[in-house]
Amino acid sequence: MIESKKVKKILYGGDYNPDQWPEEIWHEDMRLFKKAGIDVVTLNVFSWAMLQPSEDVYDFSKLDKIMDLVRENGIKVCMATSTAAHPAWMARKYPDILREEKDGLKRRFGARHNSCPNSPTYRKYSVALATKIAERYKDYDNIVAWHVSNEYGGECVCENCAKAFREWLKDRYKTIEKVNEAWNTSFWSHTFYDFEEIFPSDFRTEEFHYYLDGSPRTNFQGMTLDYTRFNSDSILECFKLERDALKKITPDIPVTTNLMGWYKGLDYNKWAKEMDFVSWDNYPNYNATNAEPASFHDVIRGLGGGKPFCLMEQTPGVTNWHKYCRLKRPGVMRLWSYQAIAHGSDTVMFFQMRRSQGACEKYHSAVIDHVGTEDTRVFREVTELGEELKNIGDRILGTRINSKVAIVADWENWWACEMSAGPTNLINYISEIMVYYTALYNQNIPVDFVGADDDISKYSLVIAPMLYMNKDGYDEKVRNFVNNGGCYLTTYFSGYVDENDRVILGGYPGKQKDILGIWVEESDAIPPDESNCFIYKGTEYPADILCDVMHLQGAKEISTYEKEFYAGTPVLTKNKLGDGTVYYVGTRSSEEFYATFLRDICEELFIEPVLNAPREVEVTCRENEDTRFIFILNHKDTSSEVRLKKPGTDILTGIEYKADDIVKLDKKGVAIIESRK
Ligand code: GLA
Ligand code: ZN
Repeated sequence: MIESKKVKKILYGGDYNPDQWPEEIWHEDMRLFKKAGIDVVTLNVFSWAMLQPSEDVYDFSKLDKIMDLVRENGIKVCMATSTAAHPAWMARKYPDILREEKDGLKRRFGARHNSCPNSPTYRKYSVALATKIAERYKDYDNIVAWHVSNEYGGECVCENCAKAFREWLKDRYKTIEKVNEAWNTSFWSHTFYDFEEIFPSDFRTEEFHYYLDGSPRTNFQGMTLDYTRFNSDSILECFKLERDALKKITPDIPVTTNLMGWYKGLDYNKWAKEMDFVSWDNYPNYNATNAEPASFHDVIRGLGGGKPFCLMEQTPGVTNWHKYCRLKRPGVMRLWSYQAIAHGSDTVMFFQMRRSQGACEKYHSAVIDHVGTEDTRVFREVTELGEELKNIGDRILGTRINSKVAIVADWENWWACEMSAGPTNLINYISEIMVYYTALYNQNIPVDFVGADDDISKYSLVIAPMLYMNKDGYDEKVRNFVNNGGCYLTTYFSGYVDENDRVILGGYPGKQKDILGIWVEESDAIPPDESNCFIYKGTEYPADILCDVMHLQGAKEISTYEKEFYAGTPVLTKNKLGDGTVYYVGTRSSEEFYATFLRDICEELFIEPVLNAPREVEVTCRENEDTRFIFILNHKDTSSEVRLKKPGTDILTGIEYKADDIVKLDKKGVAIIESRK
């Protein structure tokens, strides 16, 4: 879609459900789409029941009409396969398609994203449907992408999943002895003698609700980790089966499925590698920090290897499912659309085009509201942005973000560190990532996200917050990176375990002690109403969540704890290894600390902000060989000013600027400064 020759501009449109409406309405939709500058629609996301009314009957008559109408109107199509919600008749006839939840509840027909990934019925009929759709519409040259299913997620522990889990384990471990070793089953008399003795990890086996706060816990992290991997792989297999069926018929149409940013349930590091391009749905809460959606965009871009991604969905006005469905204030839809582009999106797409009349999304906003006319604030804002995107044309498409800093974000690590029983309930992987990300974001220093398996050699600074799991070869990669001059920063609760959640013996952090030049002997959990502290460059900062009690083994201390029996022992350290440097942060501190500490590290490494800007004014840069686009986004409710370094022209207003000129932005204003390199 986004690298296709068929695309000459930032595609603008989104989920369109004409099958919910009578035909007269469709023509009015076409008129309104043209008016708003809509040039792409995502069709057919939830139409399985319409397309296959019974086992042997397929009926494409309505979809044919819709496809023809859309093509006649010059609108491109992101074509979904409709497999995210199975038909009721299928559930009645083939109950194996229904999921069984972790508490043993076997679902009846209902909701969506509801099929068991190991159901033979689901696999057979989802692939059959994708195949039929591809065969029928393969010659529609306005199809720019395949959109398989929708927001995959959830879990199943049914009999078919149990069988498939055993096969998955045989494939991974070969022998039952190896499974026992990986899961440490000599603990609590858990030794398995036959794969048939194993069931998925759920609330009938190893999981339970922790009696103090109800949070889910497991007795056997190794097993739960493997079940989580298996579940992600099972669902991924469904995606791959449909993808391969589509590819056979239309090898040149790229295939995606819409991801959900920091969605924990699926191993996106693995999933993204199976997709032609990565796409995702952005629904920030009204009180989200500006850094939150920015981090989502960056993580998605990282999953796609740094290539432009696709903003598949956002609401033009309001969602129906937030706790408080606040309206996007005037200018915010535009601002957030440009924020997506500023972080690497080559599309701006909405859920949804026309607000539905019934069921749970009827109060979710749409380009066309219940009033049915163009006379709404949301429609006017959509139209104005449509006009701007038309004028921008293809200029930005394909440009990249060049970051010198990478943050490691690894899904398997996320699962493992939050599954741990101890050392504290306050372990939260994404919030640990976010304190580092936010400090860099607030300074307008671009950040890439990389998985633990990805190459890091091109970066100057790699930050690995709470990288609890040391995957095979990871420490060696970091050792080489640092020896070759890289700067590495990691934190408390890092490097403890291998891929099976078995502790790497010999003192924490196992294989990374020589890199960090320290040994962590113990870690003190700090309850939420208490705090330790340390002094960095004359200012006192808090030490929360965990305080590592460590010994220097080559590293130098930068700061020490002020309180407790470990007062005077190191909390922040710096080590030299080969040509590089390694920092260790043995605790969680405050936003002010990270701002200062990371500014100092970046200065030392000559990593500069794209531009210096006031707080809440975001600046990013997308570029290709000869051109640079500086995005300046004013998130404030007041006007703002930013000084440019180089001359350039604002492609939204045509205003030309000289070096050192000041760009003035209205509240929620945006500038995109194009300059030759
Ligand atoms: C998700 C789904 C859409 C719709 C929107 C509503 O992103 O993909 O089908 O439910 O949420 O916000
Ligand atoms: Zn199942």
